[in-house]
Amino acid sequence: MHLPDLKEAKIRTDKETEYIYLQENFPKLYKGQKYFLKTYGCQMNVHDSEEVAARLESLGFEKTETLENADIVILNTCAIRENAHDKLYGFLGRCKHLKKEKPDLIIGICGCMAQEESVVQNIMEKHKYIDIVFGTHNIYLLQDLIINKKEKQNIEVLSCEGNVYENIRYKRDSKIKAWVNIQYGCDKFCTYCIVPYTRGKQRSRKSTDIIKEVEELVNNGYKEVTLLGQNVNAYGKDLKGEINFAKLLEKVAQTKIARIFFVTSHPWDFTDEMIETIAKYDNIMPYIHLPLQSGSTRILKLMGRRYTKEEYLNLYQKIKQKIPRVAITTDIIVGFPNESKEDFNETLEVVKKCEFDSAFTFIYSKREGTPAAKIIDKVSMEEKEKRLQELNKLINQYSLKANKKYLNKTVKVLVEGISEKDSSKVYGYTDTMKLVNIEGAQEQIGNIIDVLITEAKSFSLDGKYLAKSK
Ligand code: 5AD
Ligand code: SF4
Repeated sequence: MHLPDLKEAKIRTDKETEYIYLQENFPKLYKGQKYFLKTYGCQMNVHDSEEVAARLESLGFEKTETLENADIVILNTCAIRENAHDKLYGFLGRCKHLKKEKPDLIIGICGCMAQEESVVQNIMEKHKYIDIVFGTHNIYLLQDLIINKKEKQNIEVLSCEGNVYENIRYKRDSKIKAWVNIQYGCDKFCTYCIVPYTRGKQRSRKSTDIIKEVEELVNNGYKEVTLLGQNVNAYGKDLKGEINFAKLLEKVAQTKIARIFFVTSHPWDFTDEMIETIAKYDNIMPYIHLPLQSGSTRILKLMGRRYTKEEYLNLYQKIKQKIPRVAITTDIIVGFPNESKEDFNETLEVVKKCEFDSAFTFIYSKREGTPAAKIIDKVSMEEKEKRLQELNKLINQYSLKANKKYLNKTVKVLVEGISEKDSSKVYGYTDTMKLVNIEGAQEQIGNIIDVLITEAKSFSLDGKYLAKSK
């Protein structure tokens, strides 16, 4: 079979070439060999890994969960915080060791760290046992990189923003719920964040392509989609004549998909039209992840977040009033450079006012190349850790309070599988994204069922199966 040279071919505009490289008819050159794929970071990376897996399988590789059995290891990396580097290099140590016993082992790195110049430099100079490196923009080159791996490292990282390409095949982890990209990259350039540099500027997919993908998922029996983007509510702004996010949501709601989630929303682009659309459609779930980052307007300004504490609180109240039962979760960074005790107290105050359903909390991590990295920070790590603990204590209190509201209530849960801790139970999520462990519903995997909540903990609920939902 003639294989076109992918780097020469206009891969992203030439659908046919793309097709050859994505499909079943790719030669199974690695039949019988195994791949180990490890994913760090956010949902975007988890979904990218589903593409990586499909590409590996197109070459004949089969999945293994055991590193020692692998013939190829791919690490899909995250760059959002400094400790991601430590985790990756720790794991790479194991891979290097394994390669001593198995010299033909192929080791590959992709994802956000592979888009960082300093990391790629480091790999070329110090980690010569790594065979292939590719970035977030050029996963489509994976098969080519593997086949053409010669004696030297095969590194292909695009520094340009990358385009949107369609007809991607995924090896989806679930047959029940699916991720659907609606945009790539981010234009917000929050001053602490590396994402706009590693994933490039915002590129929205065409709404017609998104709807086509959702309809295909419905036809294949999927019950739930999560629309994915760094900043979903800015959807379409980069395309001429494209519909906005509220209209896109509406179009997705008009397909036959049972449940729609979307992440992540930026408070700045959150419109009244969106709130109305979410409230109007039963299949748009009443769940919103709305990162606060800080409760201090002074810090928000330094972060480049484009809203004040008051604007966030107003938006929060408006959403709560207009969308009954809505659950709102958030992200908070403590210890942004020179965050004062007063600034931190304002964050606590906003948390007390909002009573979030849950929150991901982080200590600020300096990312080279971002504007915030230039600020000389006078706050000690010890102080930041103390603040994080105090914040987490408060957050957990409200998570428990929010979960307790579900006690003795009947909720709808999409059952996803057998519970890991207790095989006599199944687990799934409510329409407000609460994890529920359920008794007596073994036969209901893939169905939306009514569940009576019998116990509420900080991070999950327990319940009893009542009946299949209507
Ligand atoms: N340090 C700490 N947390 C960060 N986040 C993004 N960049 C940083 C950083 N440099 C957090 C934000 C974002 C979440 C995905 O990660 O809270 O919403
Ligand atoms: Fe990073 Fe801000 Fe974009 Fe989110 S909106 S990805 S925090 S730059």
